[in-house]
Amino acid sequence: MTGAAMFAPVYLDYNATTPVRPQVLEAMLPWLSQRFGNASSRHEYGRAARAAIDEARAKVAAAVGAHQSEVVFVSGGSEANNLFIKGTAALERPGVVAVSAVEHPCVREPARSLERIGWQVREIAVDIDGRIEVDDYLDILQYRPKLVSVMLANNETGVIQDIPVVAEAARTTSAWFHTDAVQALGKIPVNFRALNDCGVHAVTVSSHKIGGPKGAGALVLDKRLELAPLISGGGHERGLRSGTENVAAIVGFGVACELAVAEMQATSERLRALRAELERGLVEQGATIFAHAAERLPNTVYFSLPGIEGETLVTKLDRAGFAVASGAACSSADPIPSRVLTAMGVAQGLARGAVRVSLGGETTRAQVSDFLAVLAQTAFQLKRLAALAT
Ligand SMILES: Cc1ncc(COP(=O)(O)O)c(C=O)c1O
Repeated sequence: MTGAAMFAPVYLDYNATTPVRPQVLEAMLPWLSQRFGNASSRHEYGRAARAAIDEARAKVAAAVGAHQSEVVFVSGGSEANNLFIKGTAALERPGVVAVSAVEHPCVREPARSLERIGWQVREIAVDIDGRIEVDDYLDILQYRPKLVSVMLANNETGVIQDIPVVAEAARTTSAWFHTDAVQALGKIPVNFRALNDCGVHAVTVSSHKIGGPKGAGALVLDKRLELAPLISGGGHERGLRSGTENVAAIVGFGVACELAVAEMQATSERLRALRAELERGLVEQGATIFAHAAERLPNTVYFSLPGIEGETLVTKLDRAGFAVASGAACSSADPIPSRVLTAMGVAQGLARGAVRVSLGGETTRAQVSDFLAVLAQTAFQLKRLAALAT
């Protein structure tokens, strides 16, 4: 079968990853072929690679309102989050690390790993709409955490936290404050300077969520924050991340940042309107929309249809030509409901039905209405099957 003849389901899972933009691919290709130099080499090949990395660093810095010297290139969001948590903890005496109860596993797990070396993890509770519970947070701050990590936008629900306020509150503790902005970048403004003024010391971003290649990301870092590297060696990236740079991916990340920020407003407005249509249709079908009352990313809808398992629905929708995500934590016979929804206090039955639809630059109105029609049909069939089985 040729590529063109391949069945291509409608992609509605942009929070998982995004297609590489054509301009990004074009900018990357020379660095995968004739311009193959090692950026540490002194000759022309190396100097060209170094210049390309510098240019990409300037683009990423501009996209997040930071200075170039504050951008540390790493392999992606997971590495940036690990670098902040483990790298900062390595230079501190064990104490309290506070993370929100809805963090991505690549924040939660490194925080948990610190328990083995004497740290205490405090999870900051969220309310039914996925927002930080202020009282719980203020209570945790009494324990004077040394590290705090609260994400800017949630990957499942799309809920946006009021990070300036959350970071300001942590100032009294002199904690190092980090925010994971992987899902926020390109969808809502992310400005490191403004965040830094409110007490944010580090911000994580990732290339493949904004039309760039997989395998590139950055930790944007206040210079006062000292970190031990996760990978040491030749001293690349100011000694914070050794290893010969992935020039092509970094170049692609830079171009993706430039495009994402330039198009953000128009794309967000368009997606917000499409999402409103989608949500209207879902509610008509009896769906519960999670975190409906909270401020959310314009592209994300997380919903549940009563009595239908999310995993089953996602599998059926895939067969019917729509790629969406379920909220379940694993693919075993008895999937564990999403930790995020559990933390929000969503009833287990409803949480088991969770399905995430995340729209993106290529999503059209026709795709949204086709999705709603296929969903109605699929849900009807599943309910009929369930009725037959009882
Ligand atoms: C909120 C959040 N943080 C971090 C990551 C990890 O980023 P990466 O895939 O670049 O390692 C993801 C990816 O799903 C994410 O959604």
